Amino acid sequence: MLSKTLEKALNEQVSVEAHASYAYLAMASWCEQQGMTGAAKFFFAQSTEERSHMLKIFNYINSVKGHALAPAVKQPSVKFKGIVEMVKEALANEQKVTASVYKVSELAQDEKDYATYNFMQYYVDEQREEEVLFNHILERIELIGTEGMGKYYIDKELEALTGGSAPTAEKAAN
Ligand SMILES: [Fe+2]
Ligand SMILES: [Fe+2]
Repeated sequence: MLSKTLEKALNEQVSVEAHASYAYLAMASWCEQQGMTGAAKFFFAQSTEERSHMLKIFNYINSVKGHALAPAVKQPSVKFKGIVEMVKEALANEQKVTASVYKVSELAQDEKDYATYNFMQYYVDEQREEEVLFNHILERIELIGTEGMGKYYIDKELEALTGGSAPTAEKAAN
Protein backbone atom coordinates (compact mmCIF):
# COMPACT_ATOMS: atom_id res chain seq x y z
CA MET A 1 0.00 0.00 0.00
CA LEU A 2 1.11 3.47 -0.85
CA SER A 3 1.32 6.04 1.95
CA LYS A 4 -0.42 9.38 1.45
CA THR A 5 2.95 11.16 1.55
CA LEU A 6 4.41 9.00 -1.20
CA GLU A 7 1.22 9.21 -3.22
CA LYS A 8 1.53 12.99 -3.12
CA ALA A 9 5.24 12.89 -4.00
CA LEU A 10 4.62 10.54 -6.94
CA ASN A 11 1.79 12.74 -8.21
CA GLU A 12 4.17 15.69 -8.03
CA GLN A 13 6.64 13.68 -10.11
CA VAL A 14 3.86 13.08 -12.66
CA SER A 15 3.53 16.83 -12.89
CA VAL A 16 7.33 17.31 -13.18
CA GLU A 17 7.48 14.85 -16.12
CA ALA A 18 4.46 16.51 -17.76
CA HIS A 19 6.18 19.86 -17.48
CA ALA A 20 9.35 18.36 -19.00
CA SER A 21 7.27 17.02 -21.90
CA TYR A 22 5.76 20.46 -22.57
CA ALA A 23 9.11 22.21 -22.17
CA TYR A 24 10.51 20.01 -24.97
CA LEU A 25 7.40 20.61 -27.05
CA ALA A 26 8.03 24.37 -26.78
CA MET A 27 11.68 23.84 -27.74
CA ALA A 28 10.66 21.75 -30.76
CA SER A 29 8.32 24.52 -31.84
CA TRP A 30 11.01 27.19 -31.47
CA CYS A 31 13.43 25.07 -33.53
CA GLU A 32 10.83 24.76 -36.29
CA GLN A 33 10.41 28.55 -36.27
CA GLN A 34 14.17 28.81 -36.90
CA GLY A 35 14.05 26.33 -39.76
CA MET A 36 15.96 23.82 -37.63
CA THR A 37 13.80 20.84 -38.50
CA GLY A 38 16.38 18.25 -37.43
CA ALA A 39 16.63 19.77 -33.97
CA ALA A 40 12.83 20.01 -33.84
CA LYS A 41 12.61 16.28 -34.54
CA PHE A 42 14.97 15.64 -31.65
CA PHE A 43 12.93 17.76 -29.23
CA PHE A 44 9.63 16.24 -30.35
CA ALA A 45 11.11 12.81 -29.58
CA GLN A 46 12.25 14.09 -26.16
CA SER A 47 8.76 15.39 -25.49
CA THR A 48 7.23 12.00 -26.30
CA GLU A 49 9.74 10.28 -24.05
CA GLU A 50 8.84 12.57 -21.13
CA ARG A 51 5.17 11.82 -21.66
CA SER A 52 5.96 8.11 -21.40
CA HIS A 53 7.85 8.81 -18.14
CA MET A 54 4.76 10.59 -16.86
CA LEU A 55 2.44 7.73 -17.79
CA LYS A 56 4.68 5.11 -16.23
CA ILE A 57 4.43 6.84 -12.83
CA PHE A 58 0.73 7.51 -13.36
CA ASN A 59 0.09 3.79 -13.93
CA TYR A 60 2.29 2.82 -11.00
CA ILE A 61 0.33 4.99 -8.57
CA ASN A 62 -2.96 3.35 -9.51
CA SER A 63 -1.42 -0.14 -9.54
CA VAL A 64 -0.54 0.24 -5.85
CA LYS A 65 -4.02 1.57 -5.03
CA GLY A 66 -3.15 5.23 -4.95
CA HIS A 67 -5.00 7.85 -6.99
CA ALA A 68 -3.08 9.15 -9.99
CA LEU A 69 -4.01 12.75 -10.76
CA ALA A 70 -3.88 14.43 -14.16
CA PRO A 71 -1.52 17.36 -13.55
CA ALA A 72 -1.97 21.10 -14.04
CA VAL A 73 0.89 22.17 -16.26
CA LYS A 74 2.41 25.64 -16.15
CA GLN A 75 3.42 26.99 -19.55
CA PRO A 76 7.15 26.43 -20.06
CA SER A 77 9.58 28.90 -21.67
CA VAL A 78 8.50 29.37 -25.26
CA LYS A 79 11.13 31.89 -26.43
CA PHE A 80 14.89 31.45 -26.43
CA LYS A 81 17.81 33.73 -27.20
CA GLY A 82 19.50 31.03 -29.25
CA ILE A 83 20.14 27.33 -29.55
CA VAL A 84 22.98 27.35 -26.97
CA GLU A 85 20.78 29.09 -24.40
CA MET A 86 17.96 26.68 -25.15
CA VAL A 87 20.11 23.58 -24.63
CA LYS A 88 21.50 25.11 -21.41
CA GLU A 89 17.94 25.53 -20.20
CA ALA A 90 17.16 21.92 -21.15
CA LEU A 91 20.15 20.73 -19.11
CA ALA A 92 19.14 22.88 -16.13
CA ASN A 93 15.59 21.48 -16.36
CA GLU A 94 16.93 17.92 -16.38
CA GLN A 95 19.03 18.68 -13.28
CA LYS A 96 15.88 19.87 -11.51
CA VAL A 97 14.09 16.67 -12.53
CA THR A 98 16.99 14.65 -11.11
CA ALA A 99 16.69 16.45 -7.77
CA SER A 100 12.99 15.70 -7.72
CA VAL A 101 13.56 12.00 -8.55
CA TYR A 102 16.09 11.76 -5.71
CA LYS A 103 13.59 13.31 -3.30
CA VAL A 104 10.92 10.72 -4.10
CA SER A 105 13.49 7.95 -3.92
CA GLU A 106 14.73 9.11 -0.49
CA LEU A 107 11.20 9.34 0.79
CA ALA A 108 10.49 5.76 -0.32
CA GLN A 109 13.65 4.64 1.44
CA ASP A 110 12.70 6.48 4.65
CA GLU A 111 9.29 4.79 4.61
CA LYS A 112 10.83 1.40 3.83
CA ASP A 113 8.57 1.20 0.76
CA TYR A 114 11.04 -0.85 -1.25
CA ALA A 115 8.63 -1.46 -4.13
CA THR A 116 8.41 2.27 -4.77
CA TYR A 117 12.12 2.70 -4.10
CA ASN A 118 12.86 0.02 -6.69
CA PHE A 119 10.41 1.58 -9.16
CA MET A 120 12.17 4.94 -8.82
CA GLN A 121 15.57 3.50 -9.71
CA TYR A 122 14.50 3.43 -13.37
CA TYR A 123 14.24 7.24 -13.10
CA VAL A 124 17.58 7.53 -11.33
CA ASP A 125 19.23 5.76 -14.31
CA GLU A 126 17.19 7.70 -16.81
CA GLN A 127 18.25 11.04 -15.29
CA ARG A 128 21.91 10.09 -15.35
CA GLU A 129 21.56 9.29 -19.07
CA GLU A 130 19.68 12.52 -19.77
CA GLU A 131 22.29 14.67 -18.05
CA VAL A 132 25.08 12.89 -19.97
CA LEU A 133 23.14 13.45 -23.20
CA PHE A 134 22.54 17.18 -22.68
CA ASN A 135 26.09 17.80 -21.48
CA HIS A 136 27.26 16.05 -24.65
CA ILE A 137 24.99 18.16 -26.85
CA LEU A 138 26.14 21.35 -25.17
CA GLU A 139 29.80 20.44 -25.73
CA ARG A 140 29.11 19.64 -29.39
CA ILE A 141 27.21 22.83 -30.15
CA GLU A 142 29.82 24.94 -28.38
CA LEU A 143 32.44 23.17 -30.49
CA ILE A 144 30.55 23.75 -33.74
CA GLY A 145 29.60 27.35 -32.88
CA THR A 146 26.57 29.22 -34.17
CA GLU A 147 28.34 31.42 -36.73
CA GLY A 148 28.08 30.86 -40.49
CA MET A 149 27.07 27.26 -41.21
CA GLY A 150 27.10 26.49 -37.48
CA LYS A 151 23.34 26.35 -37.02
CA TYR A 152 23.04 24.01 -40.01
CA TYR A 153 25.57 21.57 -38.53
CA ILE A 154 23.99 21.75 -35.07
CA ASP A 155 20.68 20.89 -36.71
CA LYS A 156 22.28 17.86 -38.40
CA GLU A 157 23.96 16.84 -35.14
CA LEU A 158 20.66 16.83 -33.25
CA GLU A 159 18.85 15.04 -36.03
CA ALA A 160 21.48 12.29 -35.95
CA LEU A 161 20.68 11.72 -32.26
CA THR A 162 17.05 11.08 -33.14
CA GLY A 163 17.61 8.27 -35.66
CA GLY A 164 15.55 5.15 -34.94
CA SER A 165 14.45 4.91 -31.33
CA ALA A 166 14.37 7.71 -28.78
CA PRO A 167 17.75 9.35 -28.17
CA THR A 168 19.85 7.93 -25.36
CA ALA A 169 23.09 8.91 -23.72
CA GLU A 170 24.69 5.71 -25.03
CA LYS A 171 23.90 6.84 -28.53
CA ALA A 172 25.30 10.27 -27.80
CA ALA A 173 28.52 8.82 -26.47
CA ASN A 174 29.14 6.79 -29.66
FE1 LIG B 1 11.73 12.26 -17.63
FE1 LIG C 1 14.31 13.97 -19.31
